[in-house]
Amino acid sequence: MTSDSYQCTLAIIKPNAVRKEDEIVELLEKQGFCVLQRRCVRLTSEQASEFYTEHYGKMFFPALVTFMSSGPIVAYILAKNNAIEDWRNSMGPTNSMNARIAAPESLRAKYGIDEMRNGFHGSDGPLTAEREIRFFFPDFISHPVPDGQTATDY
Ligand code: PPS
Repeated sequence: MTSDSYQCTLAIIKPNAVRKEDEIVELLEKQGFCVLQRRCVRLTSEQASEFYTEHYGKMFFPALVTFMSSGPIVAYILAKNNAIEDWRNSMGPTNSMNARIAAPESLRAKYGIDEMRNGFHGSDGPLTAEREIRFFFPDFISHPVPDGQTATDY
């Protein structure tokens, strides 16, 4: 992996899967992801609300915030070529019950329970990845890309 070919994404192990962290990290490393940073944290409900601000107003927002602040989570900066899309594919469909049918090898199929307690989060695009990485790792240096934007592609 050369420094100009890899991309970073923000991954979270949610409260329902944290106790399986060791085997999850082993699996993701086997898939070619490199853990650049790790942070175990328990979010306050205010922090969880801020992290999920794009979902504010949706029916599930209060439940999601309560769940994500109910216990420790582990946040990672993962690096890999095409990390954002590859991590979302590794996680599988949002709802773990669907994942068990549509993507039985996926992490959500294996470690998740339903659409909220689905074990994992992953950024959905480069700008989101940049915001989410900064949320958990404010000191992480994001390099400028040629068109003048900052992004988490290197
Ligand atoms: S949406 O509305 O299509 O953007 O939602 P989706 O991408 O499927 O999910 C976004 C996050 O919301 C969580 N989620 C829920 N939480 C609680 N209850 C219900 N019903 C529910 N549906 C979705 C889901 O786990 C996603 O969390 P993250 O951390 O982003 O994966």
